[in-house]
Amino acid sequence: MIIVFKDLLNNHRKRIGATGGPRDIAPFDYASLRKRFSRAYMANNGYDLALANKQLDAGAADLIAFGKPFISNPDLVERLKQGAPLNEWDKNTFYGGGAKGYTDYPTLGAKQAAE
Ligand SMILES: Cc1cc2nc3c(=O)[nH]c(=O)nc-3n(C[C@H](O)[C@H](O)[C@H](O)COP(=O)(O)O)c2cc1C
Repeated sequence: MIIVFKDLLNNHRKRIGATGGPRDIAPFDYASLRKRFSRAYMANNGYDLALANKQLDAGAADLIAFGKPFISNPDLVERLKQGAPLNEWDKNTFYGGGAKGYTDYPTLGAKQAAE
């Protein structure tokens, strides 16, 4: 699977968009790709819980990965289970090379205790 996606990104980056960018820059037949791939198919880029569940229910993917929501919510799974609000991510701390923005987002418990 990694080879498939690396190839896609390398050859079609301008057509299908870059990680974190919009997904619909140009038409790309993800459903066709999914049909041709017989192993676990993981999708990502801009998903929230509702969209993830919609895609899983439709069989469009076997699992969904979360990037930025996980960085900014160390307890993302618990928050999604509870339907709790998510911390906003701070893009200024992405790729910073230090701990700031990676280990200092509050958990739900810490946030509630502080209020
Ligand atoms: C700070 C940061 C670091 C990332 N590092 C990696 C990485 O090392 N390898 C990788 O494949 N993707 C990396 N990504 C991309 C994410 O895995 C993911 O594809 C992207 O953020 C889109 O998903 P999202 O909308 O859920 O954030 C990174 C993204 C961010 C914001």
